[in-house]
Amino acid sequence: MGAGIAQVAAQSGHEVVLVDVNQVQLDKAKLALVKVLDRLIEKGSLDESGKNEVLNNMHFSTKLEDFRGSGLVIEAIVEKLEVKHAVFKEIEEVVGMDCIIASNTSSLSIASIGAVLKFPSRVIGIHFFNPAPLMPLVEIIPAVQTSEETLSTAKSIIDSWKKLTVVCKDTPGFIVNRVARPFYGEALRMYEEGIADFATIDWAMTELGGFRMGPFTLMDYIGNDINYTVTETVFAAFYYDPRFKPSFTQKRHMEAGFLGRKTGRGFYDYSEGVELPAPTKDEKLGQEIVDRILAMLINEAYDALFLKIASREDIDTAMTKGVNYPKGLLAWSEEIGLKTVLSRLENLFAEYGEDRYRPNPLLKRLAK
Ligand SMILES: NC(=O)c1ccc[n+]([C@@H]2O[C@H](COP(=O)([O-])OP(=O)(O)OC[C@H]3O[C@@H](n4cnc5c(N)ncnc54)[C@H](O)[C@@H]3O)[C@@H](O)[C@H]2O)c1
Repeated sequence: MGAGIAQVAAQSGHEVVLVDVNQVQLDKAKLALVKVLDRLIEKGSLDESGKNEVLNNMHFSTKLEDFRGSGLVIEAIVEKLEVKHAVFKEIEEVVGMDCIIASNTSSLSIASIGAVLKFPSRVIGIHFFNPAPLMPLVEIIPAVQTSEETLSTAKSIIDSWKKLTVVCKDTPGFIVNRVARPFYGEALRMYEEGIADFATIDWAMTELGGFRMGPFTLMDYIGNDINYTVTETVFAAFYYDPRFKPSFTQKRHMEAGFLGRKTGRGFYDYSEGVELPAPTKDEKLGQEIVDRILAMLINEAYDALFLKIASREDIDTAMTKGVNYPKGLLAWSEEIGLKTVLSRLENLFAEYGEDRYRPNPLLKRLAK
């Protein structure tokens, strides 16, 4: 992630120092950058002088001291609080008072990361999506310690990198990784209940729902280890709210080493010569699948709005630009009709009696 973020900054004309403790990783990052720039030249979107400019802007180092003089440092190291703390303290020793120190963390709170700084008003979350040079969305997360100035400076820098920024509260999963949970969780739940198999759920969500990838194809793409860990982390961080409960099906796939495309097998078998299973193209069943997953996603989007995690506009932008949903969930709910969405959730709640299906109060209020 760090190398991708560095590339974006260097292409935007900044002088960038990419620091990694591991020289091998730095060498890899350098090679990968040259390759990417050459590909851009082939495609005609960059010329030789543009390539040289980017390369001249990039400095590679194994020492945090080389951040001296920086105006912004974005940390994207291993996801462990104690390691981030040690690095944050060291960075603060070398940079000036006006330097913003940001984290690209996906799952730790910005408040906890910034707590070790002497001047914590300079901490902020700047959360990119992978791959950073291609994904337009960046979540900007001020912590309770963050000053207004840090927020506005960080936001305007990232805006100037031609990214779409959304501002959200320092809560688990920020916007995208919180609101998207039911896309995976409800699909897994329906599979576990025997409502449909992986291929049929994926077919319904792409063909009828208009999503670019079905949940099982997407989980295989992300990796079941990564996706399961995010779900488990969000679940624990929300004090075990049943809405975010992880699935045994995914856990067992992970334990078996069926991590997805990267291991050749996940929910599907990607071995050469093996055909992917065919879906049951039953339109009625397919629509039920889409309606249920979509109702759960919309409920989550309303929860984020209800608890002021982000603005209405930012919640919709986050889901269309961060995970390529065909429509913003809040706008989509109005298209479907709030009463219809609410009654789907109420039916699920009545049938299962589980808290996971409780409709959000704001959705209820607006539907009324
Ligand atoms: N991979 C993603 O899709 C993704 C998306 C958004 C955010 N993130 C976040 O970005 C961060 C990095 O994730 P990643 O997937 O790029 O991890 P990664 O393991 O691929 O890379 C981390 C790099 O940090 C280096 N590193 C470790 N300790 C260091 C230290 N003390 N000082 C300097 N460098 C050190 C490692 O050598 C490695 O090259 C995490 O906080 C993660 O939550 C990842």
